[in-house]
Amino acid sequence: MNQESRYDYPDADALAQAAAAKLAQLAKSSVAARGIFTLALAGGSTPKKLYSLLATDPAYRNFPWNKTQIFFGDERHVPPDHLDSNYLMVKNTLLSTGLVPEANLHRIRAELPDAKQAAADYEVEMHTIFPDSKRLNGFPRFDAILLGMGPDGHTASLFPDSLGLAEMEHWVIANHVVKFKAYRITFTFPVLNAARNILLLVAGADKTDMLQQVLVDYRDKLTYPVQRVQPVDGTKIWMLDHAAAAKLPPAPTP
Ligand code: 6PG
Repeated sequence: MNQESRYDYPDADALAQAAAAKLAQLAKSSVAARGIFTLALAGGSTPKKLYSLLATDPAYRNFPWNKTQIFFGDERHVPPDHLDSNYLMVKNTLLSTGLVPEANLHRIRAELPDAKQAAADYEVEMHTIFPDSKRLNGFPRFDAILLGMGPDGHTASLFPDSLGLAEMEHWVIANHVVKFKAYRITFTFPVLNAARNILLLVAGADKTDMLQQVLVDYRDKLTYPVQRVQPVDGTKIWMLDHAAAAKLPPAPTP
């Protein structure tokens, strides 16, 4: 059963507040149902406000971090102290509070010289949290995966014209991105699409045109990578700010 929904918020702060509330609700229901909440984080800049809220807002002081297993949906091929590191961004916004037990935080070892080895090692680590009973069609079934979208329509580190778009077997790959002349380590679409809940957080005027193409002009096409995010049996929720949604038809009031 698939459900796609979209909610627009006045600005990035309101979007972050709504996403935090949604994650807290998903965490509570996942832990109640299965005793665990498996969460994959998005990188980039949009989720920073969200991660900071979860770490500091008293409304989330009861977030079940001790039962939450945190993974990264993608990572740049850089050391964990590099300014481009998604891990460093998450450390500075969430992990530095010490709320997340170290054993529950699964970092991609992107400092390894061989990005392919980093991807392979991460996949092995994921197997320890996702035994057969926690998989869908052989892929890890996350309770929630956070994603962003680039102005070019990429999501995670699945970029237009990259070989990673076609990967249907591995869970994690090293994907070469021509425009960066670099590898990125990323979940593949089968992993994204096995999730129970996918939250696409998109904010800012630099996303307006691409959102119009993805949700209006090329709706129901596979023109851009983010359009391949299609949960097999789960929910897909677009959470946008008004700037990003400026060229879209009105969304339902949240
Ligand atoms: C990354 C992310 C990437 C990001 C988009 C949007 O590693 O950068 O995984 O997919 O979500 O590029 O980035 P912003 O939130 O910075 O616009």
